[in-house]
Amino acid sequence: MKINSIERYLNKVVCGDANEVMRKIPSNSVDLVITSPPYYKQRDYGKGGLGHEKKVEEYIAGLLEIFKECVRVIKDSGAIVFNIGDKYEDGNLLLVPYRFAIAVGQETNVRLLNEVTWVKTNPVPKQDKRKLIPSSEPFFIFVKSNKYFFDKDAFLGHMDYVRKKANGNGENVGKGYFNLIEASDLSADQKQQCRERLQEVIWEVKTGKIEGFRLKIKGIHAEPYGGQNGGRKIHLDRDGFTVIKIYGKSLKRDIIESPVETIKGNIHPAIYPEYIVQEFLKLLTRKNDVVLDPFLGSGTTAMVAKKMERNYIGIEVNADYCEYAEKRLATVQKEMVMELFI
Ligand SMILES: C[S@@+](CC[C@H](N)C(=O)[O-])C[C@H]1O[C@@H](n2cnc3c(N)ncnc32)[C@H](O)[C@@H]1O
Repeated sequence: MKINSIERYLNKVVCGDANEVMRKIPSNSVDLVITSPPYYKQRDYGKGGLGHEKKVEEYIAGLLEIFKECVRVIKDSGAIVFNIGDKYEDGNLLLVPYRFAIAVGQETNVRLLNEVTWVKTNPVPKQDKRKLIPSSEPFFIFVKSNKYFFDKDAFLGHMDYVRKKANGNGENVGKGYFNLIEASDLSADQKQQCRERLQEVIWEVKTGKIEGFRLKIKGIHAEPYGGQNGGRKIHLDRDGFTVIKIYGKSLKRDIIESPVETIKGNIHPAIYPEYIVQEFLKLLTRKNDVVLDPFLGSGTTAMVAKKMERNYIGIEVNADYCEYAEKRLATVQKEMVMELFI
């Protein structure tokens, strides 16, 4: 099969079977593959394609074929993000995403960097008296080598801003601790020392030197567990209190919350949220990078890439969806990214 130059595919929706199209894309030419393949026995997208296999093993094998092409086309600095949903069969959860991730580990050389859980804030309210409502899905991040690009601060970076705003101008920081000091069994001297220390750290928060702090007072807060002779225990025994300062940015957890999106007039039954794609593009790509989605559907990946000034390549087997994706793309201006504050 003839391999074409990458330029031929840039910023195009390619209407065809991912199995064939992927083979024509040059090796080591893509920065990020991000996609949501058809789930196992979930929907009919009209053109056959993946997802209709009789056995889950056949589905995984078909998906792996395309996944291996994804591995070939990404650069050493690149990453692959796959979002896969699960399926009940005879009342039994098949764990399809995990079967896939394990098969990837067995059959390729990529590493599974993270499983990021999408927590759906508005899951389908389909009640089953004897089951809980499934309301999460994994996004697996695979990398090809240690050179992968990873901008951790950018991922959900707007939440740092939200958190700072929630803290206000620091007016109320630490105020509650003064009452706790009074109510404690510390001696008058210890109480005075504790109040002075508290004033100091409050000032450090207000002037931006530290992000926050925790004050632990003997007899009121639980003592540190283990490390009998550790510094905190010494402080508590000697002074009756200890201060734990919090520096830097928030912890970046492997969780992303977002509603399932609905778009007015959408003809595609299973779009994934623009917001989640955006956060992965912030984490794993830079401006002008190449982002590929082999199961483009309604064009969400391409839309977000275009908005964020990345190059996109979208592959979709159903011509109606290709046309719909093109229409969506035509409405996109390069614009500010959206920020979903949950
Ligand atoms: C879960 S949907 C993707 C939805 C997409 N993330 C969005 O936001 O619109 C999977 C898509 O893969 C397409 N598809 C199935 N088999 C395919 C194949 N072999 N090659 C290319 N596309 C395929 C289906 O037509 C469907 O649109």
